[in-house]
Amino acid sequence: MKKDIVLSGIRSTGNLHLGNYFGALRNFVRMQDDYDCNFFIADLHALTTNPDPVQLHASVKQILAEYLAAGIDPEKATIFVQSDVPEIPEMYLLLNMHVGIGELMRTTSFKDKARKALGIGPAAEGDDDEAFEKQIIGASTNKRVNAGLLTYPTLMAVDILIQKATLVPVGKDQEQHLELTRRFARRFNSFYGVDLFPEPQNFNFGAAAVKVPGLDGSGKMGKSEGNCIYLVDEPKALRKKVMKAVTDEGPKEPNQPISEPVANLINLLELTGAADLAAQYRAAYADCTVRYGDLKKDLAEAILGITTPIRDRVNDILADEEYLRRVVRQGAERARERAAATLAEVRQVMGLRGF
Ligand code: TRP
Repeated sequence: MKKDIVLSGIRSTGNLHLGNYFGALRNFVRMQDDYDCNFFIADLHALTTNPDPVQLHASVKQILAEYLAAGIDPEKATIFVQSDVPEIPEMYLLLNMHVGIGELMRTTSFKDKARKALGIGPAAEGDDDEAFEKQIIGASTNKRVNAGLLTYPTLMAVDILIQKATLVPVGKDQEQHLELTRRFARRFNSFYGVDLFPEPQNFNFGAAAVKVPGLDGSGKMGKSEGNCIYLVDEPKALRKKVMKAVTDEGPKEPNQPISEPVANLINLLELTGAADLAAQYRAAYADCTVRYGDLKKDLAEAILGITTPIRDRVNDILADEEYLRRVVRQGAERARERAAATLAEVRQVMGLRGF
């Protein structure tokens, strides 16, 4: 029986953090035995924010090493770098012919990122869309909202459709992009009267999508939030970050609901696998005997239990350039094989038939 095709990618914009690990990486490792897995590093997507070239390359290499160190096995899964597959940008051009600027401009991630680029605050209820559009069109060149940012969802759809992936493990923030991917697939199929692209679904390998909280009291862990614990943080720095995590003034009366910042820390402890400890701290909160210093110490050690072996392996892997080169070369070969086959079909269907 042919296995379902799983595909997911992480943008190369720095080191991976615990949110990436619990939200993505850990599940990738669990899936690789049961599915035709394809995990890539989205370096073309990273270009939308015009990163420093040296840093971009370092980040691609780092994430590759982190994928491998976390347990993704290049013999079981295809691991590749997006820009090693030139079929992707070619199909991106073709698919863009069937994507409306309006639907791209209405995408939440575009609105958020464009507002950031323009230096205006986050979107809110009742925003004046017309004023926003005027600002984009009139933006001076140093505050430009580039066309790559606008067409980010087309590129992501191509990543998925060119591999004919049906299962796409992503977080909640990517749901809208996946919805657009399905829409583009349907549109293409029906425009040309073909059945070329399957519609991909979000996939969490049986697990509910986890929200990995940050250390600053509210919200999720994220690079732009500045509240991250990185997989490669040194123990000293990591302990310091955890000790500085936001809590509250302590429970005032028995059985009061746990405040968000403290609940976040206990949830994080639970995510590391320390369910018993987490239960103890919930009970201690309920009877007002909780000590945040102890909670933080236990949390830091529990996190280190997960990150230390990964960090050790990352350093070994990074030192082995030859191995890294072999992994990406083999990954690119496999990813290109399927991509080339799909692209050939797309070209044929669209009338680019050659002579
Ligand atoms: N946009 C995704 C993110 O920021 C990364 C990504 C790019 C992706 N292409 C993809 C994820 C294809 C899944 C499938 O998280």
